[in-house]
Amino acid sequence: MGGHPNLATPNISGKVAIVTGGHTGLGFGTSDELAKHGARVYIASRSGSKAEEAKNDILKEFPSADIHFLPLDLTDLESVRQAAAKFTQHESTLHILVNNAGVMCVPYEETKDGFEMQFAVNYLGHFLLTKLLLPTLLKTVESVPAGTVRIVNVSSDAHEKLAPKQGMIFSDMNMKDGFSVWARYGHSKLANVLHSKELAKRYAKIMSLSLHPGTVKTGLSQGPLSSTPMYRFIKPLVELGARGPREGAGAIVYAATSTALKINLDNGAYLLPVGKVSVASKAARDTTMAHDLWDWTEERV
Ligand SMILES: NC(=O)c1ccc[n+]([C@@H]2O[C@H](COP(=O)([O-])OP(=O)(O)OC[C@H]3O[C@@H](n4cnc5c(N)ncnc54)[C@H](OP(=O)(O)O)[C@@H]3O)[C@@H](O)[C@H]2O)c1
Repeated sequence: MGGHPNLATPNISGKVAIVTGGHTGLGFGTSDELAKHGARVYIASRSGSKAEEAKNDILKEFPSADIHFLPLDLTDLESVRQAAAKFTQHESTLHILVNNAGVMCVPYEETKDGFEMQFAVNYLGHFLLTKLLLPTLLKTVESVPAGTVRIVNVSSDAHEKLAPKQGMIFSDMNMKDGFSVWARYGHSKLANVLHSKELAKRYAKIMSLSLHPGTVKTGLSQGPLSSTPMYRFIKPLVELGARGPREGAGAIVYAATSTALKINLDNGAYLLPVGKVSVASKAARDTTMAHDLWDWTEERV
């Protein structure tokens, strides 16, 4: 961003943004950069104290930053409903929704709604949040230039490298038996890409994008460390040369704000860092799968 004029974040004063998991890691870098460039930012988090700490850190640097806490626990669909309701009580517009929060390779566990943890946090909760915020996003579209209103799903190249080759496992979405924590992570990240592509198709006036942020040193590695003892030996290699979260967030901020991305050309695109429109996996390009996943999910939430 700074020092790369073509990647510079534009002025986004007057815009309203939500960043899930916006208090830490890539989410914090995103909240910070969006706020610094004038947006009102809602940090959607399951921890009020962590969100408050993040808000204070941003305020120390940018005393005029406009930051708010939105309680959100993606493991709980009722919490997602409450978050959307609370947001719409306070705001009538939403320009940028960044579905960033995530867990990686955590041991098998089901949420109280009966969904596998990675699938629930990374995809399902975000699907419901997005769905409930669509009326506000669609209303906002009417008052701003085309391509301004964006939904950014933070996916991963794991959507290709780790997801089952056949794509979504509709007959066993929890993938409890016979699948690794890594395959479940890839599966949830594939769902993120399919979600963006289907959003672009169904809501052509909103720019929906998914992206891989690159390898970034964050707390995400706690998941594999807890499920896969060997990972502690691999971690230094995986993170060799990895960027820090502020720098890594540049890929997300670019997708959320860059005027170089055009709605008529780039809607539904999958981006590699930074801002490179790329080809997603074969499964992620399967339009029938995207359609079926949407219907499957809508029925469940
Ligand atoms: N880091 C990388 O190399 C990398 C690479 C590819 C993709 N990604 C993607 O980037 C995104 C951000 O990850 P990160 O690397 O910044 O990891 P991180 O530092 O661990 O941040 C993850 C965020 O998600 C939040 N979260 C987890 N469970 C939640 C829940 N149930 N409800 C609400 N929020 C929840 C966490 O909040 P708590 O603090 O409360 O746990 C945290 O704010 C993820 O979607 C990840 O898959 C990261």
